[in-house]
Amino acid sequence: MSKMLARCLLGLSALLPVLATAAGVAIIPQPQHLQPGQGSYWLDAHTRVAAPKDARSREIAAFLRAAIRAQTGIAVQEGAAAHGIELKLDPAVQGDEAYRLAVTPKRITVSASTDKGLFWGVQTLRQLLPLEHAAQVTVPAVTIEDAPAYAWRGVMLDVARHFYPVSFIEKQLDLLSYYKINTFHWHLTDDQGWRIQIKRYPKLTSVGAWRTETDGTRYGGFYTQAQIREVVDYARQRNITVIPEIEMPGHSVAAIAAYPELSCSKQPATVPTTWGVFKNIDCVGDEGTFTFLQNVLDEVLPLFPSKYVHIGGDEVPKDDWHDCASCQELMHKLGLKDEEGLQSYFIQRIQKYLEGKGKTMIGWDEILEGGASRNAVVEVWRGDDEARKALENGNRAIVAGPFYLDSPLLKLTVQNVFRTDITGAAPTLYTEARPQNAAVIATHRAQILGAEAPLWSERANPYNAESKLYPRVLAFAENLWRGNAHDDAAWADFHRRLQAQYPRLDAWHVAYGPEDRAVVQYAITADAKGGWQLHAQRGFDDLVNHYTLDGSTPTAKSPSFTDTVTLHHAGTLQVVPFRKGLRYDNPTSFTLVDNLATGKPLSLAQPPSPKYAPASALTDGVLGSGDFHDGQWSGWNDHDIDASIDLQKSTAIHSIAVDFLQDTGSRILPPQQVNFQVSDDGQHWTTLQTGQPKADVMSARPTEFHLVFKASKPLSARYVRVTATRYATLPAGFPDGAANTWLFADEILVK
Ligand code: ACM
Ligand code: ZN
Repeated sequence: MSKMLARCLLGLSALLPVLATAAGVAIIPQPQHLQPGQGSYWLDAHTRVAAPKDARSREIAAFLRAAIRAQTGIAVQEGAAAHGIELKLDPAVQGDEAYRLAVTPKRITVSASTDKGLFWGVQTLRQLLPLEHAAQVTVPAVTIEDAPAYAWRGVMLDVARHFYPVSFIEKQLDLLSYYKINTFHWHLTDDQGWRIQIKRYPKLTSVGAWRTETDGTRYGGFYTQAQIREVVDYARQRNITVIPEIEMPGHSVAAIAAYPELSCSKQPATVPTTWGVFKNIDCVGDEGTFTFLQNVLDEVLPLFPSKYVHIGGDEVPKDDWHDCASCQELMHKLGLKDEEGLQSYFIQRIQKYLEGKGKTMIGWDEILEGGASRNAVVEVWRGDDEARKALENGNRAIVAGPFYLDSPLLKLTVQNVFRTDITGAAPTLYTEARPQNAAVIATHRAQILGAEAPLWSERANPYNAESKLYPRVLAFAENLWRGNAHDDAAWADFHRRLQAQYPRLDAWHVAYGPEDRAVVQYAITADAKGGWQLHAQRGFDDLVNHYTLDGSTPTAKSPSFTDTVTLHHAGTLQVVPFRKGLRYDNPTSFTLVDNLATGKPLSLAQPPSPKYAPASALTDGVLGSGDFHDGQWSGWNDHDIDASIDLQKSTAIHSIAVDFLQDTGSRILPPQQVNFQVSDDGQHWTTLQTGQPKADVMSARPTEFHLVFKASKPLSARYVRVTATRYATLPAGFPDGAANTWLFADEILVK
């Protein structure tokens, strides 16, 4: 079919899906200036793409051709043509990332004074193409002049708590770049894993990249230097700068597990499997620490062309420095008042080292404690007081606090992200915008480079991470690119354009989340007939839950349900949400056990704390995991437990059991004593067994205690009672004394 004929036919059938019009243009982030034109440009296999001769421009042209082909199926060639697409370097387009895009029925021109601007122009052009594969597609006529409000538009991924393969990272770079995010902050090291190969210190990855989970499995992974180079170059091609973060002097237990000489105690350590802040940190009083860190940086810096390097610096408990002879000696030698001074000494020394290598240091806002030099860039996460301090100190700042993507979708909604003003001029959910801070922030606005949205991975993994990233990142990208519009009209307009993005995200197999609610929340209840009901509160109507009862990981072929399923048999229940064929999470697991207490009336002398599972979790026939947050553990704060169950008739009993948890870091201790009793009338009790769990309350290792009474021959009773008393006194060295401790109990099992 000739081009002319195709034009006529398509012109007659205005409803064909490939026909885009300027009225339907839905670009995110919205360009600063957009003027719809008349008609459309027809793109087909005759279209040519011309570009300046330099390597980067030609690379951008090749990227555009590949993108057109992937999206429409049309293979356009390189070359100049009167009616083609032209990429032009034009010094008249001012601004580091600025571009102009002109689409007319005759030609398409993308112009910019820099390759950065040229690439963003190409990304905007991609957003004007229809999704459909066709021999010819139209691009609506439009004139765009565009530039971002903020230069720093970043997303951070924590690959330490959970590991993400290179393929996952590259997929995210494709998506981030599509929405003009220009910075990927790669949080490469933390307590729970060291993820970057360092050739001089092979144990960082052979030891530090792996942890033994509570169930005995090994978890981990790391990136080789070749993989790091690959990702950095993949990002460069997409206009994204990769900033490495090597955490110091805290959040370093994985490194210390590999090289214990880094710590004050020099004692062996294991890579932790729990989250939180650990006191085991790099020893500032040992020169060997600096030799090590400088050697590490010497290998890291050549991998990352970025001018900036992130050294963490957050959440550094000073206890070990306080107790360490060499740290104390250094403190006195330097005439420092306290350990905060040591933190400042540490940070400034690393900063000088980096400056010597031509790099600018970034750190979390704690680097200001004790006074970091004003050349450092401060990543603000704790609130607008910290932003004010950083700005008054003369530092440049990146705002991260309002955009923590590990926050629940219900709390940090797409709309909250959209409406947050990073200059703090308007109060938002996450910035209190105290008047005195708002004034300072407004005065120093030029020092705010932009913002970053961090995804911490304690509860994120390669399956659920995209639901935390998207669509919130689209609102974030628009917020920073536009820099001003946060009102109702702007939100309504953004929300309309957002809907048009979902088919694209679907086409790219992105497991994006709902805009303002959880993907799914599971709850399980015991029913009176000895079975269970699993309930799913779904964030999407088209979400389907697949489950297994044999402990295997559910697939899209496993039995499924939408809202509720009744289960008649005990077993290991695993459930996974799916949507549009995509798996949305790791399995949620419930261990279902048959026993006589399930669903029977339970009375308690003292109810558990409303913060954790309700008392009914004790007799729901579902066992808790090692995680006290899993909705199965009931917790008592500074109270003993006294629980009785009415079996509703005289019953033959072979055994009674109950589980307790110890997690000293969270002030959860096992009971000092546990009693099992029975009764026929609920008034007069016979004690069957008094037991004391063998526990070391000082141990930091999370532990489960399973206490059992086994009858030598079955006994008969209607009521069963379990009492657990907490420690009357704790060892003198127990952190912060004996007040405010917890008992955590799960399932009372009667067989
Ligand atoms: C942080 O969230 N610890 C920077
Ligand atoms: Zn020390």
